[in-house]
Amino acid sequence: MIHILIIHGPNIDLLGMRERNIYGKMSLSRLNQLIRERAKNLGVEVKISQSNREGDIVSLIGKTKNWASAIIINPAAYTHTSVAIRDAILAVNIPTIEVHLSNIYQREVFRHKSLTAGACVGLILGFGSQSYLLALEAAVNIIKEKGKKWS
Ligand code: DQA
Repeated sequence: MIHILIIHGPNIDLLGMRERNIYGKMSLSRLNQLIRERAKNLGVEVKISQSNREGDIVSLIGKTKNWASAIIINPAAYTHTSVAIRDAILAVNIPTIEVHLSNIYQREVFRHKSLTAGACVGLILGFGSQSYLLALEAAVNIIKEKGKKWS
């Protein structure tokens, strides 16, 4: 069974309430339901986690290294600031896909830089909840093509 860890960063718990013109009306629980449905269709197991704390995200990546074959992460605001999350992704050497609901390149200049992107195999952004579902399909393809780990 393919195992995929999905991480939602800070304020993603407020989805459906926060800046709806940017992030849409869908709640996090609905988004997670869609992710679980797609995972079921693809025949993979997902663990989904949300945290507002950088250190918790770093620990989660480290702790899940023997379980996950791929990681899908929306580091949210930490995208633009976190060397620690970038280093955690590099440390575990698990193919990681960065996702964003919004197109960060259409937004404020401070969002145009991602510190985490360079540690990831690829990015999917700007498609709202679809960003996660597309990432799930990409992750499954990557694992099937390359085997469990890239190293
Ligand atoms: C986000 C984009 C980030 O710039 C922002 O801080 C978020 C959400 C997105 O999914 O579009 O919290 O990662």
